[in-house]
Amino acid sequence: MSTPRKYQLVGLDIGSHSVKLVEIEHGKRGRVLKNLGIIGIPHESIVEGNIREMQVVASAIKKLFKGLKVKNKKVATSISGYSVIVKKISIPRKEEGDLEKSIHEEAEQFIPFDINEVNLDFDILTSDDDLLQEDEGSKGDSRMDVILVAAKKSIVEEYMSLLELAGLTPFVLDVDAFALENALEMGQADPFEEGCVALAHVGAEELIINVINRGASIFTRDSNYGGSQINQAIMGSLDVTYEEAERIKLGGLPLGDQEATVREIFASTVRSWVQEIRRALDFVASTYPDLTIDKILVSGGSCRIPGFMEYLADETDLEVSEFNPFKDIIVDEKQFDLKYLKYIGPQAAVAVGLALRSVGDK
Ligand SMILES: Nc1ncnc2c1ncn2[C@@H]1O[C@H](COP(=O)(O)OP(=O)(O)OP(=O)(O)O)[C@@H](O)[C@H]1O
Ligand SMILES: [Mg+2]
Repeated sequence: MSTPRKYQLVGLDIGSHSVKLVEIEHGKRGRVLKNLGIIGIPHESIVEGNIREMQVVASAIKKLFKGLKVKNKKVATSISGYSVIVKKISIPRKEEGDLEKSIHEEAEQFIPFDINEVNLDFDILTSDDDLLQEDEGSKGDSRMDVILVAAKKSIVEEYMSLLELAGLTPFVLDVDAFALENALEMGQADPFEEGCVALAHVGAEELIINVINRGASIFTRDSNYGGSQINQAIMGSLDVTYEEAERIKLGGLPLGDQEATVREIFASTVRSWVQEIRRALDFVASTYPDLTIDKILVSGGSCRIPGFMEYLADETDLEVSEFNPFKDIIVDEKQFDLKYLKYIGPQAAVAVGLALRSVGDK
């Protein structure tokens, strides 16, 4: 389905390590990749979801738009981690309009933040009655399952100010876990054909798990794990700066007799990520005993840590591969280097999911 140009949005994933931009043209031929870029932001410009260095991040974003000559200033962006809570809740069945009015009351008991300090959104899980039949909470007609999203108002306002400072107009504010899901489901005429897929996304400061069964998310979790943990551990052991630790991590500094130390840091961090993912998948397995997870798709810059995918496959006994968000997007080989796209794909997955959104989307 084509979207008129005036409704198209630029996908902007503002992470604590880098900002990713993806522009997709939704034309008659299908979805065509128009622009793709990534720019690093200085360490600690964004800390625990708070934008500490507004000007620094805004100028990085401006630079990215300018460098890529992106004319469209309407964007879709996302928040995650510390500032947003995504929860499946079971509540008495009611019409969407009524729920709109009473969502604050319904949500209050599920949200650890002050209810007056959050923006609330929800989505009724309708199409998966059969899927949820194992779930006690959804049995019978009297209750329904709702995905609740609560974002801290202060953080939402920070992101709005940031975008304004960068000369952009935000139209969609999504959540990383859903943007990933959106990227996965694009181009699937029949979401049921994909079976059950677990997405595991490891960025710099967050690890997102989203299990999607036949086109619907059945489990999401966001924890504070990520590539930065490795930098911190290297800084502690080798007495180097964050930036030096980053270079060591990426293999850009000779290590000499410290090699074994760094290798152990990699191994123990990867172990903690894999344990976290396994715990989540075990939980899904116990909640839905009849369900079989078909595969794990990994994304985020830190999924490239050597050994991560292999270890995850060993520990879960599942097929593990990199998430390629460009799979169903038309790419002009004269404009983009396919090798680079393959490399950057997992890290750009959230931005791709955002770029698929249009003006008027929730
Ligand atoms: N080749 C690589 N090997 C190991 N780590 C890598 C590699 N490339 C990138 N990383 C790490 O991936 C992380 C950046 O990933 P990503 O861009 O997904 O994070 P982000 O979106 O900026 O952060 P956040 O977690 O706050 O959303 C950094 O920790 C970086 O060091
Ligand atoms: Mg990220």
